[in-house]
Amino acid sequence: MAISRKGLRALKDGALHVGSVGNIGLDRRSIHAAYRYPARFSPVFARAAIELFSAPGDTVIDPFCGGGTTGLEATLCGRHSFNSDLNPLATFLTSAKGRLYEVDDYASVERWSETCTATPMTDLYDALLEYPIPREYVGGLRRPEYNRIRAALSAWVRSATELDNGSDLSRLCLLRLGQRWLDLRKDPPTLDEFRKGLQEAVDQTIAASLVHQGAVHRRWQGELKTRRFVTEQAAIQDLRHFPALRRRSPALAVFSPPYPGVHILYQRWQVEGRAETTIPFWLAGVEGDTSATIYTLGGRGTAYIDVFIDLFTAGMKSLSELLEPGGHVVQMVGFKEPAKQLPLLLSAMNEAGFRELQYKSIATHDDGRLWRKVSSQKWYNAVLPESTPTSSEVVLIHRLD
Ligand SMILES: C[S@@+](CC[C@H](N)C(=O)[O-])C[C@H]1O[C@@H](n2cnc3c(N)ncnc32)[C@H](O)[C@@H]1O
Repeated sequence: MAISRKGLRALKDGALHVGSVGNIGLDRRSIHAAYRYPARFSPVFARAAIELFSAPGDTVIDPFCGGGTTGLEATLCGRHSFNSDLNPLATFLTSAKGRLYEVDDYASVERWSETCTATPMTDLYDALLEYPIPREYVGGLRRPEYNRIRAALSAWVRSATELDNGSDLSRLCLLRLGQRWLDLRKDPPTLDEFRKGLQEAVDQTIAASLVHQGAVHRRWQGELKTRRFVTEQAAIQDLRHFPALRRRSPALAVFSPPYPGVHILYQRWQVEGRAETTIPFWLAGVEGDTSATIYTLGGRGTAYIDVFIDLFTAGMKSLSELLEPGGHVVQMVGFKEPAKQLPLLLSAMNEAGFRELQYKSIATHDDGRLWRKVSSQKWYNAVLPESTPTSSEVVLIHRLD
């Protein structure tokens, strides 16, 4: 495979893309922005990696798919896409963002949101009694100042589940609404703000989905029926059991694993400072483990890094059984203690049969690799102790020998 200088430059630009993990995700017109998954990477980075290390018609896999950044970009680049994640919220988001909806779905969600925003307060409270938010999900939203918000959510989720068309799209809008008005906010919104917020979430999500849909149609044209965009809930260690993947080996994996030593709340929101709620699961209509450390590859204790490396090694071995011979892996990894943790991660890749590739033209550091400083994103602020000077992420490129 010829690796072009231009492609490498695009990869570097994508990795260093100003602002953040997810800059394009800040553009509300993009489907990426329908939900800003914690610790997501930039779509510009994912796209550059896909264009550089795969060809149209290839399959690209992201076994830690999170909010679906890789999959959405892969399909836009004419690649088949396989996405998996242990977290069912992640697989819900990837599938709901990436689906090509029918006209009836959009119309149904528009009607649903009009009804929701017009529902009088008394009916909302009735819904709260008949369809309460389950105890295991409500968390910090149990506080009395959230009564109206809980009532609205009960009514709106109940009607979303009853939709014949567009049910997942309506749930995606509710997740967007909650992330905008509940997560990391000190005070609850007023009911009026919440109602307007729903309308806005629906308008923006439908507009973005239509743009995405148009772009996919243009890219695939007459071959749309052959396109595969698959989403599965699975631990990376178990991927080898997916027959669909065995039939058609991916040429490339693009991902960010959980970051060793960095604790991220992938499935929770924080309301009023630090009170947590796992309501995203209920809004998405998924079930699964919502415990704090389940999606971090090994929790937090002192033996944490050993568990992490064991699971990571098993995951990479599983991946190596699936990838095409000569296939590539491009990953962005962040560390709490890079000097200790990077060598462990590199030997795990080695043990799984991957060989590291380095390209001088994109190196930012004497170790020959491309590093980026982590900007002040939610995960960074929320998880790293104040004494940590700066944290960095590195782009690692490997080839399956
Ligand atoms: C850094 S995030 C990926 C973000 C993604 N690149 C994006 O742009 O949205 C890491 C993901 O790994 C998932 N994960 C953790 N342990 C896993 C495991 N054993 N198998 C598969 N996925 C796992 C987490 O649920 C999380 O969604």
